[in-house]
Amino acid sequence: MRLRLINGPNLNLLGIREPDVYGSSSLSSIESKLIDFAKKNGANLDCFQTNSEGDLVEEIHNSINQVDGIIINAGAYTHTSVALRDALLGAGIPFVEVHMSNVYSREKFRHNSFIAEIAVGVICGFGFDSYKLAIKGMLNHLREVSREDE
Ligand code: DQA
Repeated sequence: MRLRLINGPNLNLLGIREPDVYGSSSLSSIESKLIDFAKKNGANLDCFQTNSEGDLVEEIHNSINQVDGIIINAGAYTHTSVALRDALLGAGIPFVEVHMSNVYSREKFRHNSFIAEIAVGVICGFGFDSYKLAIKGMLNHLREVSREDE
């Protein structure tokens, strides 16, 4: 199974940014732990981060026929971007929406997601473990779907 981890705006600042909310690990250390975690679970994970909405859309387009599933923490664009939703709908690649923080215990504007409705699932509130749970959930989902196809 080929998975792609896509992180959106400001997640390059993990480790520096609001450590009380997002913890003290950098994005690169999170990515390398997740690559190992995916490998142990029989999958290949590659990683991409951008602060730009257009590049996020481009990366989703570039994922067509390249990966079986996407794990995405779209950061603030989750709450604002119709273009992001359209890109995910257009690509038709199953994805899990991830947030490190529990967005439902935070400001009201974080309660809305333009992509949750079209996701395989949504995970939030478990810090680094949110990503691990998303990878596990996505792999279980993809394996179930491929068994159904047999
Ligand atoms: C976030 C939550 C978003 O509301 C916020 O804009 C982020 C990070 C999270 O991982 O908890 O940038 O997606």
